Amino acid sequence: MIRIAVANQKGGVGKTTTAINLATALAAAGWRVLLIDLDPQGNASTGLGVTTGERERSSYELLRGDCTADEAAIATRVPRLDLIAATVDLSGAEIELVEFADRTHRLERALTAARRPWDVCLIDCPPSLGLLTINSLVAAQSVLVPLQAEFFALEGLSQLLQTVERIRARFNPQLTILGVALTMFDRRNNLSSQVAEDVRACLGKVVFDTVIPRNVRLSEAPSHGLPALIYDHRCPGSEAYIGLARELMARLPKRAAAA
Ligand SMILES: Nc1ncnc2c1ncn2[C@@H]1O[C@H](COP(=O)(O)OP(=O)(O)OP(=O)(O)O)[C@@H](O)[C@H]1O
Ligand SMILES: [Mg+2]
Repeated sequence: MIRIAVANQKGGVGKTTTAINLATALAAAGWRVLLIDLDPQGNASTGLGVTTGERERSSYELLRGDCTADEAAIATRVPRLDLIAATVDLSGAEIELVEFADRTHRLERALTAARRPWDVCLIDCPPSLGLLTINSLVAAQSVLVPLQAEFFALEGLSQLLQTVERIRARFNPQLTILGVALTMFDRRNNLSSQVAEDVRACLGKVVFDTVIPRNVRLSEAPSHGLPALIYDHRCPGSEAYIGLARELMARLPKRAAAA
């Protein structure tokens, strides 16, 4: 199973929107997708229309080892897209996990033991570099970094890259940066273009060609419990996520070609 962490410790940069819509695009392309909501805010779960009552077994129980990934995964309204939801309990996990000797590897172990034939797993990380994000970086083979096209875009990125470097050195030598996706790009705003240019100059080819525009349909969709790709598959935001999914598949090993 291909495992991708969607991470950036900065809040509100489009991690969840990216995770939900990429997961949907990959499922539409025929992949069996598992999305793990690893953020106590539970936005990915809400955005997929999964009510709190339906989150009986969540990523919290999974990390504690109280259930398996196969038991925790629930089907969503999107064919081929399963979700391991998050509840507020997860906010205590950062502290509770400290007691476990294998605290950094809880998610990795749980995913390795998974039996269902998912092709790809996306992990929606919380806006921090704590144990939850570390678990997902240990469990993943690669990281996708959404970066908001605004003035402070690059601020904090070096911290994230340092963390990735540290995890690679200590726990997970195969961990790579799959790509950086510019989000909330506003064409009418010169600053957005300037930031995009700076980011490309600084990071080079790791930045995806596809840029996600600021699009109100993307922000409306979660209130309907639907991915934007289903809520309005023709809006500019959805089209951009389809383009991003294409680029992403081209960067993934082998299985992309099969699909
Ligand atoms: N391209 C976009 N155009 C317009 N609104 C967007 C876009 N991307 C995300 N949003 C909105 O911006 C807000 C933050 O996005 P999102 O929740 O995806 O970010 P996040 O990085 O997951 O946030 P957090 O760090 O809190 O988990 C949400 O209200 C979302 O609907
Ligand atoms: Mg989020």
